[in-house]
Amino acid sequence: MIVAGLDVGTTSVKGLALDTDGGNVVASAEEGYPFDTPRPGWTEQDPELWWRAAEKVLLALGGAELGGIGLSGQMHGLVALDSSDAVLRPSLLWNDQRTAAEALEIEERLGGLEALVSATGNRSLTGFTAPKLLWMARHEPELYARVAHVMLPKDYVRLRLCGERATDVTDASGTLWFDVGERRWSERVLDALEVDRDWLPPAEESGVATGVTPGGVPVAAGAGDQGAGALGVGVDRAGGPLSVVLGTSGVVLSALPGYAADPEGRVQASCHALPDAWFGMGVILSAAGSLRWLRDVTGDVPFGGLDADAERWGPGAEGLTFLPYLTGERTPHFDPEARGAFAGLTVRHDRGALARAVLEGVAFGMRDALDLVASLGGQTRAGRVSGGGAKSKLWMKILASVLELPLEHVVVDEGAAFGAALLGGVAAGAWTSPEEAVKACVKVRDTVEPDPNWIEPYREALQRYRALYPALTGHWALGTSNW
Ligand code: XUL
Repeated sequence: MIVAGLDVGTTSVKGLALDTDGGNVVASAEEGYPFDTPRPGWTEQDPELWWRAAEKVLLALGGAELGGIGLSGQMHGLVALDSSDAVLRPSLLWNDQRTAAEALEIEERLGGLEALVSATGNRSLTGFTAPKLLWMARHEPELYARVAHVMLPKDYVRLRLCGERATDVTDASGTLWFDVGERRWSERVLDALEVDRDWLPPAEESGVATGVTPGGVPVAAGAGDQGAGALGVGVDRAGGPLSVVLGTSGVVLSALPGYAADPEGRVQASCHALPDAWFGMGVILSAAGSLRWLRDVTGDVPFGGLDADAERWGPGAEGLTFLPYLTGERTPHFDPEARGAFAGLTVRHDRGALARAVLEGVAFGMRDALDLVASLGGQTRAGRVSGGGAKSKLWMKILASVLELPLEHVVVDEGAAFGAALLGGVAAGAWTSPEEAVKACVKVRDTVEPDPNWIEPYREALQRYRALYPALTGHWALGTSNW
């Protein structure tokens, strides 16, 4: 059987078709679109763009000939519809930062951080969906008065594809209206925020079929991009590998032996794309984004050139330390005002040293995320890497040595669309469970081991790195008025 996975992303819909006999990718397609930034810190997208792109991608992948479809997509985005399912305004996206006041108000209305974490497993991040809807209530009351349905990006594509209203438990986990531990909408949060339960679709387990296309193809509930991506690299149950993503942002995601949440909400708690499974996720906001920044400010050097320059320096780059908080931070310091830094510069340091420090600083940020995730019970023996940064051999060796874990590349590194296709196969009956799909289709290609000579120097450098943030926070606060 051929099944398809779609990832309704921030810049494109990516899709692939997979042969359920052996898990080989037989076709792939992508359709791009822009997003708008009507004001600094705002990001919006017209849901119609997702649907048009999804239609084209599905057609390219085989359309009605497919045996099943799985949906994945950017998380947290707010899609608000009126009673005739017309889109009320462009979607506010996951990286939109306009909702600081509403995020704070939500925490207060729930009775403080501890109460909010106990209800949802999470703290009120500006990117989550609940603060976006509250922003609409505060700033666009006429539109808000017409809200009849609220959904997430991939679920809008589902509505257009098969006329069904549904979401899945992983995507619902990123709304802040969801009780992650109980895997259902939280009455406590909905009541406190005066959100009508009828506005929200049912939240299904990821492999469940939620409807069929007009051509009769079953469509799985699917998963948010991080859950689907984790499944796609074979991170399913606790005790296996964890998912390490080096994209613009960096993610360390671990399947947990049961529901667990960090009391301060420094780790995002989420249902996983398998029944009775959860994950904890630490997100650092500028991972490969930090390296891109360095490349852009140091001239037109390709990433490979920066790597070669960095390779000439030993671990720790003679005491040079980089903090990667170029766009604020989520984990381990929830601090939108945090800023990046180089510390310990000497005249000997050249571009290669700066590059080495950036690769290492990001690795230290990932180590902070790993330690927090591990504190929730996410023990592991290896990481599965994905994202653009995972292509750098040097970065992988640094990261493996800092995390003190072997890092594995999988054969099909197609991210969330691959995980979504596995879920499409489960919904179509090709496999009985997501674990079975993972077993059949996810294979390791190669492994990068930690360098035994780098472990001790990196333990020391990590101490230097960790001492810097508390030493610098007051400094950033003083500078704020000048930006
Ligand atoms: C997860 C997150 C991103 C978005 C965009 O919390 O913000 O993964 O889903 O891809």
